[in-house]
Amino acid sequence: MNTSKTKDKYQLAIVPGDGIGKEVMEATIYVLDSLGIDFEYVYGEAGDECLEKTGTALPKETLEIIKNADACLFGAAGETAADVIVKIRQEMKMFANLRPVKSYPNTNSLFENIDFMIVRENTEGLYIAGEESYTDEGAIARRIITREAESRIIDYAFRYAKENNKSKVTGVHKANVLKKSDGLFKEVFYEVAKNYPDIATEDFYVDATAMYLITQPESFEVIVTTNLFGDILSDEGAGLVGGLGLIPSANIGEDAALFEPVHGSAPDIAGQGKANPIAMMLSSIMMLRYIGENEAAEKFESAILKLLTDGNILTGDLGGSASTMELAEAVKNNL
Ligand code: NAI
Ligand code: MG
Repeated sequence: MNTSKTKDKYQLAIVPGDGIGKEVMEATIYVLDSLGIDFEYVYGEAGDECLEKTGTALPKETLEIIKNADACLFGAAGETAADVIVKIRQEMKMFANLRPVKSYPNTNSLFENIDFMIVRENTEGLYIAGEESYTDEGAIARRIITREAESRIIDYAFRYAKENNKSKVTGVHKANVLKKSDGLFKEVFYEVAKNYPDIATEDFYVDATAMYLITQPESFEVIVTTNLFGDILSDEGAGLVGGLGLIPSANIGEDAALFEPVHGSAPDIAGQGKANPIAMMLSSIMMLRYIGENEAAEKFESAILKLLTDGNILTGDLGGSASTMELAEAVKNNL
């Protein structure tokens, strides 16, 4: 999202992490460096190797680096992923999780012409630490829906739609059963929508949405939903367009943002130069749009689109035999 106007120089926090995180980060920075934008990279450590070396998976210095930067690029962590990424999201109050679902040629996408964004609430719902406990009968989890957090995420989704020329926002809930909590979500959805008269609205039940994503995925533009539903629907979205090596994501807060591929550290292929860097590259393109460098974002994305359309230089996961850096070189040549 264009939260800031373009600057002369940006400070980027770079946290490559473990395994292929390091490889896809190197490949992405190789292309970023050719865009004619002045980036200052500040590297931070996090993840399994960092834990082994320093005794903590997420050192304070890394959090400081992320705090002070205009944006953060994160590769992947290994077994410590939950400690690292969940903790960063909490510390930086990153309330929005963005998962684009877009079909590209020469991939395992099940459909053509899919291009929508899932905007997931990331701070409440069913996923709050401490709101789950054992009882005499078994266990219980509380699902928390507040007007403040839901209106913040819904407003974010509408602003995103407006700034990215999307014409419709779909609110997803289960208000027929969860009459109070999701009843409130639905009510707030239509309240916020009034501030965006140019953007069309619709709302669906989450179960129906799970089906519509398969039967009419091209009809969606922006989906906004609560934490658990967003988690599930975004992985369904990833399945629709095929392949972990292609799926980027963003975590956005009031004054901090982190961009990361959805995949992990892939120990099975790490260190072999086989990783597909496109998910990391697409994450960095979301970062470019976030800092307002839209032209560079378009240029970078077109270069990837051309590479995929040509289909000659692809990594193993897409049926090719190119290495991570060969792919990066080819994308750079397409700029
Ligand atoms: P994974 O995403 O690392 O790998 C799953 C499969 O997809 C593997 O066969 C891998 O080779 C392949 N793959 C993933 N990304 C690829 C890419 N860019 N190019 C080509 N092939 C790719 O998930 P997995 O195996 O469940 O977890 C491995 C480690 O990663 C675990 O320690 C896990 O905790 C961590 N992890 C970290 C995440 C994060 O940092 N956000 C997210 C998911 C897992
Ligand atoms: Mg998930």
